[in-house]
Amino acid sequence: MEERIQTLLREVNAYAADGKQALEAFRMKYVSRKGIIGDLFEELKKVPAEQKKNVGKVLNELKKAAESKLSELSATLEAGVDSQTDLDLTLPPVPNQVGNLHPLTLTRYRIIEIFERLGFNVADGPEIEDDWHNFSALNFPENHPAREMQDTFFVEKKGTGGAKQDVLLRTHTSNVQIRMMEKQQPPLRAIMPGRVYRNEAISARAHCFFHQVEGLYVDRNVSFADLKQTLYHFAKEMYGKDIKIRFRPSYFPFTEPSAEIDISCLICKGSGCNVCKHTGWVEIAGSGMVHPNVLKNCNIDPEEYTGFAFGMGIERVTMLRYQINDLRLFSENDVRFLRQFQPVI
Ligand code: DAH
Repeated sequence: MEERIQTLLREVNAYAADGKQALEAFRMKYVSRKGIIGDLFEELKKVPAEQKKNVGKVLNELKKAAESKLSELSATLEAGVDSQTDLDLTLPPVPNQVGNLHPLTLTRYRIIEIFERLGFNVADGPEIEDDWHNFSALNFPENHPAREMQDTFFVEKKGTGGAKQDVLLRTHTSNVQIRMMEKQQPPLRAIMPGRVYRNEAISARAHCFFHQVEGLYVDRNVSFADLKQTLYHFAKEMYGKDIKIRFRPSYFPFTEPSAEIDISCLICKGSGCNVCKHTGWVEIAGSGMVHPNVLKNCNIDPEEYTGFAFGMGIERVTMLRYQINDLRLFSENDVRFLRQFQPVI
């Protein structure tokens, strides 16, 4: 019996399996409980006591050899399967880059955050607008030179294509004021961010599309002091508590009185530079008390209610925030520029 075991041991050690089936055959033949080795252990019981020790020893050796052969064979088989696939572990990995938010988006989020804390809602309106909401309801009389303040892209002109009135790309977000006031009675307190379009030559300071945030607050007893305080608070939140702000008398058809809002130049700290054209001040918004005609156009009684409104350019606010000197960078999609902004929400 000992000799038979020795022969089997040689057989096992020399075994070379090729493929899954051969591996399974090996397992069945030697290792499984009904295999040769199992039978030999049964036989061992009948072996005379004086031989049992020796035979048992070689039989155990055979068992171990068969088991380690089995695991060795299945390991090579697995490695073989992998090498047959296209997996090339030497290739460099695809870089895992997470994008970040556009600087204009970051600024818009920050503006919304500041005004939301003052109780302002966020509202939205159409970019393709009719003459009424973009001009007439905002107290721009027909053929009035004030319409020329904003060079308009028309989609349809009155009298062409059967249009009853002009259809245009909105030149400002003030159209959303009208849409809000037409739908709701005061109190109204909302900001309205969005994209606007003007027929302007593209340069470092101007573009044919850009973004604004409109603000509107209509209620009983809203005063110019509320407007000043709200925008002063905004400037401090956005640019820090050392910022200075000033109101300059101005003209807009939809507000009376009207004012333009300047903040102290963040780049030269007021001493004069190219950005502030050596004045120490940079304009960030237009504003004023909502004109009674505008309230009337929206069926709001100007005897009962007053309101303030403002409109600011998101690009301008962002340029001052991150010290960017060319408006075109915002729409060129150069990743070297865009990657510099981390979400600061
Ligand atoms: N709509 C103006 C513009 O685009 C900005 C503006 C000025 C909006 C005064 C207002 C405002 O609401 O009160 O130039």
